[in-house]
Amino acid sequence: MINKPKGTYDLYGKDAKVFLYLEDVIKTLMDSYNYEYIKTPVFEQSNLFHRGVGPSSDIIRKETYDFIDRGDRNMTLRPEGTASIVRSYIENKFYANNISPQKFWYIDKMYRYERPQKGRLREFFQFGCEAFDSDSPMLDAEIISIPVSLLERLGITNIKVRINSLGDEQTRKSYKEALVNYLNEKIDDLCSDCKDRFTKNPLRILDCKIDKDSPIIKNAPKITDYLTDSSKEHFDEVLEYLNDLEINYEVDPYIIRGLDYYTDTVFEIEATINDESMIICGGGRYDKLVEDLEGPQTKAIGFAVGIERIMSIIDTLKLDEDIPKNELDTFVVPLTKQANHFALSLNQALRLVGLSSELDYKQRSIKSCFKQAELLNAKFIILIGEDEIKNDYVTIKNLSTKEEKQLKNHEILEYLFEQLDSDEEHCCSCHNKDHKHEN
Ligand code: HAM
Repeated sequence: MINKPKGTYDLYGKDAKVFLYLEDVIKTLMDSYNYEYIKTPVFEQSNLFHRGVGPSSDIIRKETYDFIDRGDRNMTLRPEGTASIVRSYIENKFYANNISPQKFWYIDKMYRYERPQKGRLREFFQFGCEAFDSDSPMLDAEIISIPVSLLERLGITNIKVRINSLGDEQTRKSYKEALVNYLNEKIDDLCSDCKDRFTKNPLRILDCKIDKDSPIIKNAPKITDYLTDSSKEHFDEVLEYLNDLEINYEVDPYIIRGLDYYTDTVFEIEATINDESMIICGGGRYDKLVEDLEGPQTKAIGFAVGIERIMSIIDTLKLDEDIPKNELDTFVVPLTKQANHFALSLNQALRLVGLSSELDYKQRSIKSCFKQAELLNAKFIILIGEDEIKNDYVTIKNLSTKEEKQLKNHEILEYLFEQLDSDEEHCCSCHNKDHKHEN
């Protein structure tokens, strides 16, 4: 038997419904925030991520899925969405658009060759947003408010927003010097990865998964003490705007984030369920990335949420009413081979007017068809036999009231809509199940 690759999963059944529900909630949320949907390729030229995400990040050092295509080009399955969207922003000249800031959202699969464990997959979905061409601290607050609103709508309340500022280039230069001075004598006590980071990118040491609880890291200098005046002003304003939006946060001066492109504001959202905490969202400003990838000077900010991590903590019982059930309006049964033609056409006609309908493809016995209709949660079963074909009618049974009727073909739709309308308050004109009468 061929199994699925390590760190991947099949999405089906209830989880698939929760996923589609989540997509719907996100879409509605993004419409209200006026963000545009964007989709980029699953693979990109490797250089994009090496230059975008940064060579000293764990993602690039050990987690990318790289391959050489048949034309000898180095390609990488995207480990995250930001670099791809920046590439698209530059390549499609979105910056020439008169509407500004330009704001995008996506739900896409990402690929990281990580050691699979709870909440850490090799193929996973991220919902993310990227907003270009504004350095307004109000936009920072807006970006942070999106995942917060999403979690609120999903009933996930036990969350902590942690925020920090990595400042501008001058900030990071002075902080790096202070950190290197501090770590100089202590680096031998940290892990081998940290020793490597010490020469390549010492700030990364603060993000080490192995040494994160070491007193050496806990007592390290704080970047917030090294912010330049303009970075401090920006950060203070972001915090004020978060207060305006009534978003609770904690300033955590040791948040560095695992990707190299961040400048100024960075943040993470942690959720705690049953004493277990996990980071479900991360983001921040990347005011230099568009330029670094050869676009015009453009400030930008974004975030991404791990969909599987959210799905693992959603209380599906609470959402049960919102998650659509498997239901069918009609189950059409041809009782003879001769009836197939009419049954197939009728089933199609029912679907075209907006009903959900299924056909018995297997020429089952009537008893099995009733069983099948019950398993499919069908509201009506429509039987078409020899007599029905000869005399131009069908037999319809309402499976909850057990009422049975013989109807002429031209009466079928009117009867069904009448019955379904009274059942579910369908809108009479559009027959859309989700559209309720306004009164
Ligand atoms: P990130 O922190 O690497 O940021 O990932 C964002 C979120 O994706 C994480 O908080 C987590 O929920 C989820 N995630 C990451 N790795 C995995 C994994 N192996 N398995 C399951 N879930 C995972 C970024 O990717 C940035 N692009 C975010 C961003 C957008 N910054 C600015 N704009």
